[in-house]
Amino acid sequence: MAQNASNACAESTLAGGPVLSPRLFEKFSRFVTTQLGIKMPASKRTMLQSRLQKRLRQLRLRTFEEYYDFVFSEEGRRQELSHLLDTATTNKTDFYREPRHYEVLTQTVLPDLIRHTGAGLRRPLKVWSAGCSTGAEPYTLAMELSEMATRIDGFKFQILATDICTRVLGVAYNAVYEEREAHPVPMVCKKKYLLRSKDRNRPRIRIAPDLRRLVEFRQLNLMDPDYGMPAALDIIFCRNVIIYFDRPTQFGVLSRLCRCLKPGGFLFMGHSETLNGFDLPLRAVASTVYRKLG
Ligand SMILES: C[S@@+](CC[C@H](N)C(=O)[O-])C[C@H]1O[C@@H](n2cnc3c(N)ncnc32)[C@H](O)[C@@H]1O
Repeated sequence: MAQNASNACAESTLAGGPVLSPRLFEKFSRFVTTQLGIKMPASKRTMLQSRLQKRLRQLRLRTFEEYYDFVFSEEGRRQELSHLLDTATTNKTDFYREPRHYEVLTQTVLPDLIRHTGAGLRRPLKVWSAGCSTGAEPYTLAMELSEMATRIDGFKFQILATDICTRVLGVAYNAVYEEREAHPVPMVCKKKYLLRSKDRNRPRIRIAPDLRRLVEFRQLNLMDPDYGMPAALDIIFCRNVIIYFDRPTQFGVLSRLCRCLKPGGFLFMGHSETLNGFDLPLRAVASTVYRKLG
């Protein structure tokens, strides 16, 4: 009888799924913003609702209240929190996204670093892709730097790629993509660094093992107060990540990224991310490319 009464109360959307009430959305969104820095205004309620509805189905839960109780139970904290946080992230990425950055990298930034600091020759050049999503960005870097190594004798580099989202890190580590995703990759790199699947009904590519070995993937939350890295990096790509944060959070993340850069190191941001108005030890050297002072 009690079961029937609660059935009658469970609201559903027009499409038939359970409804995420504004009150419960507020609780989820506050949690997501505190943990990840990602802003979740009320306009994101439908997005979060539809993404979480899939999860409720998988867990065979009927209401968001049940899901909320589960997520914050002891068992849920261990098993479900990462799924909830994955749901809140936006992971759009592409190989050779914002291609002008790779021109600036190979034509200006690398020659400068090699000439003035010996990075890549006297010691390995250290690059970090922060917020790497499914891996297109660090693998693009690996292709470009490998091409550099064919032109400069003895050129060595290390690439660290991090993200908070467990799902995308799994994809990045496996390095299997739909073939159409590789369209922006230049033919010469396709031939050297990509393997094609034999299944022509679902054409896919995989990053070749030698290139995969050049990238180390790790989970890292940019909200952490300390990234556990000394000021040792030559280049950081943190593109299209802080755009989802509010201004104070952006400033905190950028300050910590700056601390990880060597003086004279370079920071690449997304094309719609401006650092105007932030008091940071950076100087613009090209559109959305910055150099650390000192
Ligand atoms: C839109 S993607 C950008 C991917 C890539 N940098 C590019 O420009 O193509 C943003 C990525 O930032 C990650 N992200 C969001 N908040 C984060 C946080 N607090 N710590 C680490 N990564 C985060 C997301 O999981 C997502 O994969």
